[in-house]
Amino acid sequence: MSSSSLLPLSADQIARLEQLVSELAPSQVAWLGGYLTGIGAGGAVGSAQQAAIAPAVAVPSVTILYMTQTGNAEGVANDLAAALKAHSIPVVLSDVAEFSAKKLKSVGYLALIASTYGEGEPPDTGEDFYNAVMGDRAAKMADAKFAVFGLGDSTYEFFCKLGADFDSRFEALGGTRLLDRVDCDVDYDDQAAEWVTTLSEKIAAEVAAAAPAPVSALSAIPASTQYDKKNPFPAELSERILLNGRGSHKEVYHIELSLEDSGLSHTPGDSIGVVSQNSNVVVEALQGAMGWSGTEDADGSPVSDALKLTYDITSLSPQVLEKYNAFAQSDTLTDLLQAEKRSELMDYIYGREVIDIVTEFPVSGLAPADLVGCLRKLAPRLFSVASSLKAYEEEVHLTVGAVRYCSHSRERLGVCSTFLADRVDIGDRLPTYVHANKNFRLPADPSAKMIMVGPGTGIAPFRAFLQDREADGAAGDNWLFFGDQHATTDFLYQLEWQRFLKSGLLSQMDVAFSRDQDHKIYVQHRMQEHAAQLYAWLQEGAYFYVCGDEGNMAHDVHNTLVDIVAKHGGMAVDAAEEHVKNLQRDKRYQRDVY
Ligand SMILES: Cc1cc2nc3c(=O)[nH]c(=O)nc-3n(C[C@H](O)[C@H](O)[C@H](O)COP(=O)(O)OP(=O)(O)OC[C@H]3O[C@@H](n4cnc5c(N)ncnc54)[C@H](O)[C@@H]3O)c2cc1C
Ligand SMILES: Cc1cc2nc3c(=O)[nH]c(=O)nc-3n(C[C@H](O)[C@H](O)[C@H](O)COP(=O)(O)O)c2cc1C
Repeated sequence: MSSSSLLPLSADQIARLEQLVSELAPSQVAWLGGYLTGIGAGGAVGSAQQAAIAPAVAVPSVTILYMTQTGNAEGVANDLAAALKAHSIPVVLSDVAEFSAKKLKSVGYLALIASTYGEGEPPDTGEDFYNAVMGDRAAKMADAKFAVFGLGDSTYEFFCKLGADFDSRFEALGGTRLLDRVDCDVDYDDQAAEWVTTLSEKIAAEVAAAAPAPVSALSAIPASTQYDKKNPFPAELSERILLNGRGSHKEVYHIELSLEDSGLSHTPGDSIGVVSQNSNVVVEALQGAMGWSGTEDADGSPVSDALKLTYDITSLSPQVLEKYNAFAQSDTLTDLLQAEKRSELMDYIYGREVIDIVTEFPVSGLAPADLVGCLRKLAPRLFSVASSLKAYEEEVHLTVGAVRYCSHSRERLGVCSTFLADRVDIGDRLPTYVHANKNFRLPADPSAKMIMVGPGTGIAPFRAFLQDREADGAAGDNWLFFGDQHATTDFLYQLEWQRFLKSGLLSQMDVAFSRDQDHKIYVQHRMQEHAAQLYAWLQEGAYFYVCGDEGNMAHDVHNTLVDIVAKHGGMAVDAAEEHVKNLQRDKRYQRDVY
């Protein structure tokens, strides 16, 4: 007698049941168990739909929060939401800017993906949430089961500080850690995918093990495009024009890429990710220093290819040095790598690359696989979209400043900017993707005024903003601040601004050429000169945008804005800071700084 004949089901019914169960996620099996129990207890067959809509016991939802400036954290959050959805687990997906920290007291499962900026600071839109969670009056989180994913860049001193801050704070507030925190560098994709899988499976297993419960509705997950970071589009370089005049100290290129047949769409405020390659000169110098011919195996590919295409051989980080020192066993490096010497270490790293380390602390006979095992993956670089699809269909324009400098007696090349400037020809195809940035957007109201501050390559998105407004016939007034070193050589896109001024699209343009006189004049000085008018525009609902250098410019412009609000709004500095913060909360003060 076969075992199946002992069951009260026919062979056909068993086969169909097995087929159904094999297609279900653990949480669905759990729900089905509850549903069948309900029928067994006298419930009506056919009420499954109703049970799903009006759950008696809800499957616990997972709150997924992200704190982002340029969208990476949001991307990881979306991936986690999709993975949980595949397990039929409901999610609440939100930017922390739109989530009250008070609600943390009632969250169960919580995943936070946080990026770090500045000197270990939150992104602009995450400041309120961060302060609320870190503050004395933060909600207790006794019911929370949390996992934190930190995004950062290990070349910064405060690597992934925000993730670490939240992780320890959630625990201190009574939460239970579901997974150890992950601190991720710029090449975060693989670790993010692993974290998403591990976390979603862990939650699904817990949910399945809990009481049977019906499945409730899921929140919408944004659809992904065909081409993205993992599958970049080979865009043809169709134009490259040096924007600076002869004698300039700057080297900024106007780049045009064709997006024909890609189906890719971008919006002013977005960036384009470009996957680049290291220069042969740098690769060969490193191979030479190591005594390699280039054909040796590194990671399944010849070391010359690996160093050119896969690994970051120019920037250093404490983690890279730590790994390298496992081979070098250098007393100097060991000393520098002590936790209390962090700022000395960062000073040492500044201006040095991998070649400096392998020559200063040589390891005889080091295998290519061991060296590349110490290195980060080569990350794509982002460039602000400098054109509107409404003006240039199936194209994207970029404004790229070539990075070249000399340090420790070596000529250095910025990887991607010089790849675009020197190492690709018109007609070549470059792997690219669109990196959306919903935190840098034109006003929804076409009649709203805009003030744009974009010195240097920071001008790029405002070219896109203005093209877009021109194409739409948007009525709002537009005021542009631009700055660079010299008017004669560095006035990027000058003719275009003149045309916009003539047509009335630009109501006003103020320029600051820092080196055209004895004393330095920057955009913030021009803002001060027009302080009363600038404040009046803000009072009339103007949006204030800043793009470009994060190091000095963005801070100076911010402080100037606070100062203008204080003086012309008759406020104390504290009140002016709060006023500016409110502009930020209302998305009327947006920054894209790098
Ligand atoms: C959202 C966003 C938008 C951006 N938009 C633009 C844009 O529109 N246009 C644009 O040009 N860039 C833009 N950038 C910056 C861009 O992504 C790259 O960072 C930049 O082009 C440099 O990349 P690279 O690969 O050429 O240089 P890298 O190889 O990354 O080298 C740059 C690094 O070199 C080091 N360095 C530079 N100068 C010196 C020096 N004098 N001494 C010692 N060390 C030094 C610094 O550590 C610096 O970070 C943007 C960045 C972001 C995040
Ligand atoms: C201007 C600027 C400052 C940054 N400062 C830090 C920092 O202090 N520490 C860190 O770990 N990462 C820092 N980063 C790296 C970002 O955190 C990292 O690129 C992250 O992936 C961005 O995520 P997001 O797209 O979600 O904002 C900085 C990046 C930029 C552009």
